[in-house]
Amino acid sequence: MCGIIGYCGQKDAVPVVLEALKCLEYRGYDSAGVASLCDGQLLISKDAGKVEEVIEKHKLATLPGHVAIGHTRWATHGGVTQSNAHPHPDCTGRLAVVHNGIIENNQELRRELTEAGHRFASETDTEVIAHLLEDELKSGRSLEQAMLSIAPKLEGSYAFVAVSLDDPDKIVGTRKSNPLIVGLKDRDYYISSDALAFAQYTDEVMALEDNEVVVLTEGAIEFLDPEGNKVAKQSRTLDQSWAVSDKGAYQHFMLKEIMEQAQVLERIVDQDRQQFTQIALDILRARQVIITACGTSRYAALVGRYLFSRVGKKFCDVVMASEFGYFADSVDKNTVVIAVSQSGETADVVEGVKAARAVGAEVISIVNRPNSILTDLSHQVIYLNCGSEIAVAATKSFLSQLAIFYLLAFAMVNSFDEAAASLAGLGGQISKTLDWNKSELIKLSDRLKDKDDAYYIARGINFAIASEAALKLKEISYVHAEGMPAGELKHGTLALIEQGTPVVVICPDDYTFAETLSNAIETKSRGAYIVGVSDRESDVYDSWIRIPEVDELLYPMVAVVPLQLLAYYIAVNRGCDPDKPRNLAKSVTVK
Ligand code: G6P
Repeated sequence: MCGIIGYCGQKDAVPVVLEALKCLEYRGYDSAGVASLCDGQLLISKDAGKVEEVIEKHKLATLPGHVAIGHTRWATHGGVTQSNAHPHPDCTGRLAVVHNGIIENNQELRRELTEAGHRFASETDTEVIAHLLEDELKSGRSLEQAMLSIAPKLEGSYAFVAVSLDDPDKIVGTRKSNPLIVGLKDRDYYISSDALAFAQYTDEVMALEDNEVVVLTEGAIEFLDPEGNKVAKQSRTLDQSWAVSDKGAYQHFMLKEIMEQAQVLERIVDQDRQQFTQIALDILRARQVIITACGTSRYAALVGRYLFSRVGKKFCDVVMASEFGYFADSVDKNTVVIAVSQSGETADVVEGVKAARAVGAEVISIVNRPNSILTDLSHQVIYLNCGSEIAVAATKSFLSQLAIFYLLAFAMVNSFDEAAASLAGLGGQISKTLDWNKSELIKLSDRLKDKDDAYYIARGINFAIASEAALKLKEISYVHAEGMPAGELKHGTLALIEQGTPVVVICPDDYTFAETLSNAIETKSRGAYIVGVSDRESDVYDSWIRIPEVDELLYPMVAVVPLQLLAYYIAVNRGCDPDKPRNLAKSVTVK
């Protein structure tokens, strides 16, 4: 969480930084700020609020300077206030820092720094970095020497960049387990949490390794190892197709991303068959297979688990990444760990993978973002190839993850090509589903928008779709929603069903239909309003979301799409911003 950007070069720096902050907002959007160096002054302007609001309120675009840093925040330490917004100055106001991550020993450092006479202006963990740098600069060190010297004192994970009037005209940055990437073009240099932030200016990038320090000045760039020795680096070219982040004619990124899923499916089958065969063999041979992920990616993993069992006859378990460490005792070199993550930087997933690697497990990751922390840590990487996903609520990446699990499961029985052919044909069915239901979903969203609760039920391979659909609804519309296996209802949740309570029943005409429908009838008898998601009509439904008839293992992919759209319409109907739900962020880089 939190987005960092720095620029130094020939252009006016602040407009570059502000544009970048808009691209980085998916990482956090509760406050924003910039610091620029101009004519011997350090100008800092920041506030609580979304990037656009802060830019407007403080007329940030008028700030001068050829060197500037900026930040968009997702609060960890300290509330959403102006003083907790980044950049953070030191006591003298001569340097400023922006940071992503958590300094775990910040309390201890804050105590020591306060005792030594430093004055803190915020409640953030970040501010200790500013004061530590201040002491180093006072003793005559350059900004990069200062950074090298304080880094060993910082516990936790971080990426930060700093500017200072005592060592002007430069930006210095470092990272540990959090992303920071440099972009270059002619005499212009950029540094950011995500190359997306500067992709409109350059496709030439350089990676910064953990614990390295990078120094940017107009026309020069230098990388230093933790001992301060220069490191030679090659630049590489960014895949620009990845960088598209335009909403086009759509009102929101989420809607665009839902609507492009049919095309996404066509692209996804463009995979390396050999690689899938090898990975499938590794999975089949492993003593145990554990899939680890968070949020939506974990629900994709739950579908994957059914596919592995049903097609490959291989049992595996799905462990929530935040709980993975507690199972570490049973992970060994005969374990295959499959890490699923759209961003490739979710802190809990990264930590789980590091722990698994440390005991010799094989790590296979399924990720969307190229060159992420997770890709660097994995033995094998499968890419989703679904392009950048901007809306906080994952949609097209989820569908892509389901498709990857489908391909992997069939690769286990030597049928990769057949699976790829089925997926290639599924795009048309998804378009059909959207066409059939669009106006019905808009009407349904009107009917459901004022409900306080909603329940989603399904069985077997479709159960995780109930959970994912409920997650979509709650995260963007703030309606309480739960998804569960239909058979579990009567073990507690049935007590919550009242007259008019919405129950969304995912019951395709497959091996789960009859039993799921009986569970729906049980809720209807208690007053529930039934929304049936099926290719088979029934009198039990009060509302019917019609999906096409497909192979039973493909139903999760066609069932989830209209439910994403339903959640979207409900959110918009309730006046919520589906792209930036409150309190959430797309990349969760803290534990
Ligand atoms: C956050 C996002 C979710 C996402 C989850 C896991 O909570 O808001 O949309 O599913 O992180 O992210 P990952 O990038 O690891 O898939």
